[in-house]
Amino acid sequence: MTLGTLDLSQIQQLETVHQPPLYAKREIALVRGEGAYLFDSNGRRYLDAMSNYGVAILGHADPEYAAALSEQLHTLATGHQSFYSDVRAVLLRQITTIAPPGLTRYFLSNSGAEAIEAAIKFARVATGRPNFVAAKRGYHGRTLGALAATADQKYRAPFEPLAPSTTHVSFNDVAALEAAVDDHTAAILLEPIQGEGGIWPASLGYLQSARDIAATRGALLIADEIQTGFRTGTPWAIDAPGAVPDILVTAKALANGFPIGLTMCTEVISSAIPSGAHGTTFGASPLACRAALVTLHALRERDLYGRSAALGTQLINRLTDMGSPKVRQVRGRGMMIGVELKERVTPTLRALQERGVLVLPAGPTTFRLLPPLIWEQEQVDEFMAAAESILC
Ligand SMILES: Cc1ncc(COP(=O)(O)O)c(C=O)c1O
Repeated sequence: MTLGTLDLSQIQQLETVHQPPLYAKREIALVRGEGAYLFDSNGRRYLDAMSNYGVAILGHADPEYAAALSEQLHTLATGHQSFYSDVRAVLLRQITTIAPPGLTRYFLSNSGAEAIEAAIKFARVATGRPNFVAAKRGYHGRTLGALAATADQKYRAPFEPLAPSTTHVSFNDVAALEAAVDDHTAAILLEPIQGEGGIWPASLGYLQSARDIAATRGALLIADEIQTGFRTGTPWAIDAPGAVPDILVTAKALANGFPIGLTMCTEVISSAIPSGAHGTTFGASPLACRAALVTLHALRERDLYGRSAALGTQLINRLTDMGSPKVRQVRGRGMMIGVELKERVTPTLRALQERGVLVLPAGPTTFRLLPPLIWEQEQVDEFMAAAESILC
């Protein structure tokens, strides 16, 4: 069986037979990408408005990214953190330039959930407290610790009992947060914009209150920027002086698709973590670090923050002004946009796919745009033409 020789039905058959039935799969097999476009096994082209759940911010087959990874593969790909690495050292230095003030220690791992697990463990060890407060509709991953923080019963129920104990409060409700945080709370864990839950931005006042409540009660504030990181026009969506978290977690886009997780914390938290108390074999390998370095370099050099802010605002305005009778609300910031419909979202996802545009659901009635940040005016216009033809 040779790569490139399988047709769609053979691919579907093999995946159906050999995988646990965890995913409701879309009908197509994606086999190639080029810039802002993906191609299926029949050679059909799709505008990528999802970047693999927010991962491929440089789009697909980016020449600079591919060349850097290829060079690193020919130099040194893997290397444990019990040895020093030149690439890792340079990446850590680079992270200091985007880290929020006071977040000076960086733990690198391999995925969002792993980065959350580290945050949970660090918060517990630093505070000596067991519990967490997170938000309803919040999503933090599917390993057991991250799942305990995730709100949706769909993800939690089959695996209960879960540890650690997490109270889920209504998002953007300061009084509810105030009532839930007590002397046993290690941390408040929040997404600055809830992603999987439907693209719900936190109000600035809410994040500042969360900061104050945590500080007053001796708990920590953890910002989950796994989905928001790098795509809202600034590195972080929690970007105000009064709302700096104690721990910030990111993953997805940081290495443009190479698996990576990053848990940033303060000196005080870092000093409470015993040597050897946490670790990972693959995390912070030279290859992963090189992937992150070239991604951060491209973000800066190509002004992708500025472009995400401008094109994102334009998309939000045009989607709102479209005046579709099917649309309830358009929400988001930069290239993280949710379009809530007055009806279930699946027919719209299908219709967009048939028209050659791939978007993601975010809850039962919302579709979500997480485009590669390399979109230009042409891709915005192409998306809008498809959206108007289906929704108006
Ligand atoms: C906000 C948020 N936290 C955590 C995760 C989990 O990340 P991963 O799927 O890499 O484990 C996700 C993934 O969608 C996410 O959006």
